[in-house]
Amino acid sequence: MTDRPLTTDLPLTGIKVIDFSGVQAGPACSQMLAWFGADLLKVERVNGGDVTRHQLRDIPDADALYFTMLNSNKRSLAINTKTPEGKEVMEKLIGEADVLVENFAPGAMDRMGLPWEHIHELNPRLVYGSVKGFNDDSPWSDIKVYENVAQAAGGAASTTGFWDGPPTVSAAALGDSNTGMHLLIGILTALLARERTGEGQKVSVSMQDAVLNLCRVKLRDQQRLEKAGYLEEYPQYPNGTFTDVVPRGGNAGGGGQPGWVLKCKGWQTDPNAYVYFTIQEQDWEQTCRALDRPEWINDPAYNTAEARQPHLFDIFAEIEKWLAGKTKYEAVDILRRFGVPCAPVLSMKEIAYDPALRRSGTIVEVDQPQRGTYLTVGSPIKFSTFTPTITSAPLLGEHTDEVLTELGYDADDIAKMHANQVVV
Ligand code: COA
Repeated sequence: MTDRPLTTDLPLTGIKVIDFSGVQAGPACSQMLAWFGADLLKVERVNGGDVTRHQLRDIPDADALYFTMLNSNKRSLAINTKTPEGKEVMEKLIGEADVLVENFAPGAMDRMGLPWEHIHELNPRLVYGSVKGFNDDSPWSDIKVYENVAQAAGGAASTTGFWDGPPTVSAAALGDSNTGMHLLIGILTALLARERTGEGQKVSVSMQDAVLNLCRVKLRDQQRLEKAGYLEEYPQYPNGTFTDVVPRGGNAGGGGQPGWVLKCKGWQTDPNAYVYFTIQEQDWEQTCRALDRPEWINDPAYNTAEARQPHLFDIFAEIEKWLAGKTKYEAVDILRRFGVPCAPVLSMKEIAYDPALRRSGTIVEVDQPQRGTYLTVGSPIKFSTFTPTITSAPLLGEHTDEVLTELGYDADDIAKMHANQVVV
């Protein structure tokens, strides 16, 4: 954990959030609101709660890591909102909340009797954050969507992978957590707007749109391709062929700086013995010095990006000869001194045990009653005045009675709701 000072007076202290969301997109958004100080109440089904509690369990009967890693710093109310009593509780919560986050299937909130218009009427100040697979204008707006479906529809899959392979999805949660982060920005913006207007609003983010927002350079490339017929930074140039759609470029650098994943010592047995190497145009001389190839500095076949492009992969092959006797860490230690943009390809194991990532609070160890400690990702956003403290995720319905009492229900009412399975 980190040495930086902790404080309980966090930026979002006093903001009440109903987390009526599940799986990853909604919970990732609301979890971050909680880290920054909001009072987060997760509202879950009585029969099992968020599906991720049960998915991919590593310990029988313990909440899965999928759940615990997306729901830290929250309280849990397990309630059947489709009963009249459950709906009444929900409406009371809405009346007091600042934010509601949901990512149910299209139409589910309406079917539950909680459409946006009704929620807005109940509490005009409430900011309503909603994730769906597609936006309201899409012909596919009725489709239920998971991560890879969004990557397919948002342009990521068609542009990821190698030219001789199929469309490929990224391991990074471009559809799920990325959409949650977009929603977070929208919610915080709407909260700021409320400061001026006094009124809440609905903030909607579709997973397709959020993926596309991260694929904007590929939309750039589509337009360049239509103008020029080729894309000079792709491996297909100049020796291969282009069609009329942006091709998959393998590991090519997406911008103006060519790069590739290059083998280092041990690649034959270690699947991650690689570095990502970038040739920065303005630092070509330094790059040549780092590689012990001073003869390339002024050689007209090497000294401009244009001259290198036709034989770029021969240059990468030469660099791999230089890398052959060095581990990825040794190589990066040399290259960094010459200003070469590069990094070792890190495995999840290396990341999990990286002391620097622990020190910065980017990876944190959290206690959980069912499983002891587990690792999770802490805040990637670092603030100068506070450090988010990451606490455990709640058990299903752990705070049901506490929340109902706060809403003014007495012990008899609460016992009745338990007996009727309205809450657990
Ligand atoms: N009490 C009573 N009913 C509840 C409830 C509660 N506390 N919480 C949820 N439900 C109900 C919903 O109202 C819904 O009922 P309905 O089908 O009769 O309308 C039902 O549970 C199922 O809802 P949902 O969570 O949407 O489940 P699903 O399995 O049908 O679909 C998704 C799951 C993720 C595919 C779908 O929610 C979806 O497409 N969401 C939008 C995009 C998204 O966020 N995808 C996931 C990204 S991580």
